[in-house]
Amino acid sequence: MIRRPVVLITGASGEIGHGLITRLSKDPDIAVITLDLRPLPPPLTPLVQQQFLGSILDAQMLDRILAEYEVDLIFHLAALLSTRSEFAPVTAHRVNVEGTLNMLDFAQKQGESHGRPVRFLYPSSIAIYGLPSLEEKMRAGKVKENEYTTPTTMYGCNKLYCEHLGRYYGNFYKQLAAETLSGKVDCRCIRFPGLISAETIPSGGTSDFAPEMIHSAAKGEPYACFVRPDTRIPFMAMPDGIDALLKLARVSRERLTQTVYNIGAFAPSAEEIQKVTLRAFPQATITTKVDVKRQAILDHWPADVDDGAARRDWGHEPHYDFDRAFQDYLIPTIRQLYARR
Ligand code: SER
Repeated sequence: MIRRPVVLITGASGEIGHGLITRLSKDPDIAVITLDLRPLPPPLTPLVQQQFLGSILDAQMLDRILAEYEVDLIFHLAALLSTRSEFAPVTAHRVNVEGTLNMLDFAQKQGESHGRPVRFLYPSSIAIYGLPSLEEKMRAGKVKENEYTTPTTMYGCNKLYCEHLGRYYGNFYKQLAAETLSGKVDCRCIRFPGLISAETIPSGGTSDFAPEMIHSAAKGEPYACFVRPDTRIPFMAMPDGIDALLKLARVSRERLTQTVYNIGAFAPSAEEIQKVTLRAFPQATITTKVDVKRQAILDHWPADVDDGAARRDWGHEPHYDFDRAFQDYLIPTIRQLYARR
């Protein structure tokens, strides 16, 4: 029996999966299978070859996929985000770390069985950074990949460790065995800034204040922003996030000088986001009700990231800066979305 070659997306029903499936479906040579606890939204269902409904913690499910499909490329998106993880740290560790280990092992087995390296795309996060104080955060400005890697959240710890696991599988896996087994997994990590999609709303993240504010304004619902107006972290429009994943997935290994890359686009304060949102939706009511605990998480995240390596090694170049993200993507697409409902 011949196994069919496919791209595997875990956590496919989430925000990134949504955009990624849509983009991949435009390429007739690519077949996609998905693994998620939740079914895909109905419009996405016809765009994939098969949906596996289940958990990345289910070894039997992974064995089934291994038996049926030949996978050369994995987008491992399944995770519990930062706010949710603080309420259930052990569950977060299970899903974010054990789940990722399972997927890396799945990739290793795939590579061993078909003989080619499996590209493993892993979305990491600015949550892996931990700036010691607000003063230091403002002084540091754009942080590099190797600076301030002392996360303060369970999610950040999980993501940072899994970046290392990916590097381990790629370069050192079972290094004492007689035969060389490493090199079967080609792990590539992107540390994403907060992502803002015009089509979906996030849940369980700490950067959610920006997309929540914009979507609430568009729906005509009042919004109480849970951070101070001066709060600043990097953000990116979802299409640029998807582009970055696809670009990094396609580039040849020789061009990559590191396993983990920052990517940036714009880094507005919450007040600046509020201003452009109100300009687009003047009827909106946006107030501030600071959640000091979630605020503290954001105060440890960098004000911006240095993405020089991503630009140099694989041509990261976001299409949307702050103004374009709002004018050309968020506002028109969100208007359409809620006009349809
Ligand atoms: N945006 C995510 C969160 O807020 C971080 O990756 O949890």
